[in-house]
Amino acid sequence: MAEELTPADSDEAAAAAGAEEEEQPIKQRKNGLYPGVSDELAENMTSGWADTELRDLEPIAQAAHTADRRAALSARFPGERLVIPSGNLKTRSNDTEYAFRASTEYAYLTGDQSEDGVLVLEPQGGGHRATVYLLPRSDRENGEFWLSGQGELWVGRRHSLAEAEQLLGIPAKDVRELPEKLREATGPVRVVRGHDAAIEAALTDKVTAERDEELRVNLSEARAVKDAFEIGELQKACDSTARGFEDVVKVLDKAEATSERYIEGTFFLRARVEGNDVGYGSICAAGPHATTLHWVRNDGPVRSGDLLLLDAGVETHTLYTADVTRTLPINGRYSELQRTIYDAVYDAQEAGITAVKPGAKYRDFHDAAQRVLTERLVEWGLVEGPVERVLELGLQRRWTLHGTGHMLGMDVHDCAAARTEAYVDGTLEPGMCLTVEPGLYFQADDLTVPEEYRGIGVRIEDDILVTEDGNRNLSAALPRRADEVEAWMAALKQG
Ligand code: GLY
Ligand code: MN
Ligand code: MN
Repeated sequence: MAEELTPADSDEAAAAAGAEEEEQPIKQRKNGLYPGVSDELAENMTSGWADTELRDLEPIAQAAHTADRRAALSARFPGERLVIPSGNLKTRSNDTEYAFRASTEYAYLTGDQSEDGVLVLEPQGGGHRATVYLLPRSDRENGEFWLSGQGELWVGRRHSLAEAEQLLGIPAKDVRELPEKLREATGPVRVVRGHDAAIEAALTDKVTAERDEELRVNLSEARAVKDAFEIGELQKACDSTARGFEDVVKVLDKAEATSERYIEGTFFLRARVEGNDVGYGSICAAGPHATTLHWVRNDGPVRSGDLLLLDAGVETHTLYTADVTRTLPINGRYSELQRTIYDAVYDAQEAGITAVKPGAKYRDFHDAAQRVLTERLVEWGLVEGPVERVLELGLQRRWTLHGTGHMLGMDVHDCAAARTEAYVDGTLEPGMCLTVEPGLYFQADDLTVPEEYRGIGVRIEDDILVTEDGNRNLSAALPRRADEVEAWMAALKQG
């Protein structure tokens, strides 16, 4: 990659040039252009380009749904200006940036994923008028398209504002005008914080942290019940994820010859080819690493006879993620003890999944799964019963470690800003999607369990949609029962 000719370079070079600076054409310096560009080249670059404007574009698939979502938000905050930024690129070093991922709130309400975008809902009549503020196409007249680091020649073509309007079904304006408009705006305003410092700075005298948090909480809770488009995307995410798990099983011998990284890279390939990315850092935990809940270093050995705990999810192009875990015998067969522990987790997950239905308390599936795990721990003599005593004191948690699941959607831990009463103390409704993911983890240095248990970690995680009459397992394409897992692995390795 060549170095960019940024306006910053331009200023430094112009200063170094001393007297020559005076001779630079005013037009170039005023627009922050690179001073080494001749007038002839600058002029030449302004013309000879085809009209590439796209016309008669169809709206994106979720446009009708995003309109409904904005209407719900509008009804909740009448008379208030609402500002929802997409976020900005974050520098990795010098002129390279981390991959951009639009804020969930912005993408949920617009379907757009541009960096620097801002959705504004402005009070109008009894409701709101929505405008999406975006960086327009690069200007060819002032050279911005080829001389600025944000220019389209460097970063790729953007949609024109007219194109964006057609695609999103929302009027679009130039985002560079927005800070001034916000500074001048009157009346109550709220902004979703944490995504765009410049937009927040423009509003600093007008907003309070408490009121802004109410907006964030509302958007988090609004996402709990998924619409038809979202359910379709979550299914796609799960289907791609299942294919990614199959990819991994097929290359376990290569992972054994290298490391857990081979598994991470293999799953990532599927995620990037079929979706946008992975929805979170893949946990590719072989052997005792399976007992580390968020093992994402993935730099350990993969050994025959050990288990592989793979917790990974593809994020779709529209930013919905799966979150699936399978714990696989690396050599294709569970040992007797591995299977005993696996079956306990399987039974706990079954009990948890059965408890997912409309009208159930959110906590029910966790309680059901914890009870099964506790019964087994008592049965195995790892903790003294009775089961009720263990549950009351929470003693099983030394080995169960985490909650049994969470909401799933555009964020892997979706709806995380929701109030307790609307989430963990709430009630399940059709359209909610959650993970059910019990586990048992015996740390390698846990002296309270027999030696043969140490270093074994098992988690089974599926993505469960609450339906009108119960639930649907969106990740059912992947086998869960121990014998089915073994048969599936054998078939993949043969094929
Ligand atoms: N992959 C993170 C989790 O299961 O919550
Ligand atoms: Mn997971
Ligand atoms: Mn999870």
